[in-house]
Amino acid sequence: MEFATLSNGLRMPMLGYGVFQIDDATAERCVADALDAGYRLIDTAQGYGNERGVGAAIAQSGVAREDVFLVDKVWISNYGEGKAYDSLKASLELLGTDHIDLMLLHQPFGDYYGAWRDLERACEEGLVRAIGVSNFDPVRLLDLCTFAEVAPMVNQVEIHAFRQQDAAIENMRALGVQPMAWGPFAEGMNNFFQNPLLAEVGAAHGKTVGQTALRFLMDKGVVAIPKTVRRERMAENFDVFDFELTDKDVARIRTLDSADFTCYDHTDTKLIGGLLGFIKSTM
Ligand SMILES: NC(=O)c1ccc[n+]([C@@H]2O[C@H](COP(=O)([O-])OP(=O)(O)OC[C@H]3O[C@@H](n4cnc5c(N)ncnc54)[C@H](OP(=O)(O)O)[C@@H]3O)[C@@H](O)[C@H]2O)c1
Repeated sequence: MEFATLSNGLRMPMLGYGVFQIDDATAERCVADALDAGYRLIDTAQGYGNERGVGAAIAQSGVAREDVFLVDKVWISNYGEGKAYDSLKASLELLGTDHIDLMLLHQPFGDYYGAWRDLERACEEGLVRAIGVSNFDPVRLLDLCTFAEVAPMVNQVEIHAFRQQDAAIENMRALGVQPMAWGPFAEGMNNFFQNPLLAEVGAAHGKTVGQTALRFLMDKGVVAIPKTVRRERMAENFDVFDFELTDKDVARIRTLDSADFTCYDHTDTKLIGGLLGFIKSTM
């Protein structure tokens, strides 16, 4: 395994396994399979509704808790000082663990400053080992890094071959924030797995489109958390530590970057307005 070192010195695996859009029971089976396949970073969220299954799988896996890097995220409806802390305690209960390795704020909306102060407190108390954010654009990240007592250590955003986010990554690096990619396969959109250029580059190394895409991200210094419910694909996506992309490969993959393509547009006021309206109605 390759590791990133966070600004507080914590080591984080460069490759992990994500459990978005998987229910509790499926998450329990999938996380058990993923740990068996060798993954040691698991990415869940309060909003995924599967923390119990994730925690049960880790507890029953036979892998020492210390060897698993567990990532969780506070959902927007739990933001606000005091409320985020209580939600984190509830997450620990569901996960059946005494600490979370990395806790993120899932989205940059609502009272994220209040929630951030709770994460700082939880970090100080040892309930979490590192804290960070997700989906923060460069300016919002700069804002939090400037005014928070403890700056975020990680920013998890959409990064993949079709949306390479060079400027955002550069901004993270300048702020000492580790980039982490959600949707490393663009969630399969835009015929990701049939992409001829990725297929050709990968074939020259005896590797698949998915493996090539993950190697590209890790070589950029980006932590990746692919999701699959299939055991054979878990093994395939983990088999990325025995080859190197050439400069020419990287230059070719860089041509796939698109200013237009995104799996989820955080600047779309209609889309985000709908999400926030729904969340407010549940609070
Ligand atoms: N912070 C955020 O806002 C946010 C947003 C989205 C995701 N995430 C995190 O990032 C993780 C990954 O992102 P994601 O789940 O959205 O998308 P993704 O990992 O880019 O893509 C998942 C899709 O690829 C398919 N797949 C996986 N490996 C494959 C392979 N080797 N060959 C062919 N198809 C393959 C999966 O299908 P099968 O399952 O059928 O194999 C699934 O349809 C999530 O699980 C979650 O932990 C975070």
